[in-house]
Amino acid sequence: SDKQKLDIIKENIKAFEDFPKPGIIFRDIFSVLADPSLFKLLHEVLLSHVKEIQPPVEYICGVDSRGFIFGSILAVFLRVPFIPIRKKGKLPGPVDSITYELEYGQDTLEIQTNIIKEGGRVLIVDDLLATGGTLWAAAMLISNLKAEVVECLTIIELLDLKGRNKIPFPVYSLIQF
Ligand code: PRP
Ligand code: ADE
Repeated sequence: SDKQKLDIIKENIKAFEDFPKPGIIFRDIFSVLADPSLFKLLHEVLLSHVKEIQPPVEYICGVDSRGFIFGSILAVFLRVPFIPIRKKGKLPGPVDSITYELEYGQDTLEIQTNIIKEGGRVLIVDDLLATGGTLWAAAMLISNLKAEVVECLTIIELLDLKGRNKIPFPVYSLIQF
């Protein structure tokens, strides 16, 4: 079952203590992707979740940079456009942007202007939900375009940080720590 697959994947996500800073336990999703049988399990569970999302989504937005991996898999499967939401200064041409607070300081996310139509139904994808600052910014960027954030999807959620409480849209995660 999906539950059993997720248990196996969770056991195999390597944890690195004090990376990148003291006190942080870094959950390394790349340790799953490095094992083809685990990546296959994750792929299966992702697709089985995404098949059930209602209303059907018209765009996938992947968040820089690990959100690109999972977002692009889903875009191919659903046959919808894959649109990157990138950190400042990476996207060519006119962009819309949003600035958000980090633990120390701030950062900016951007999306190319007019790439998503008004009212378009969007699934936002990232690898991990921690404080929720990144996913909040991505979701506000999309809703500022007058598009609909159908769901914010991550592989991993760090429950103690309560990031989902910041996000005024449906949030779904596959694995929780
Ligand atoms: C990580 C992760 C999320 C974000 C989550 O990205 O991939 O995007 O942090 O943290 P938050 O919920 O506290 O905002 P990072 O900034 O490390 O960039 P990367 O994906 O390029 O490694
Ligand atoms: N991004 C933000 N916090 C993280 C963590 N603890 N592990 C992996 N990626 C992260």
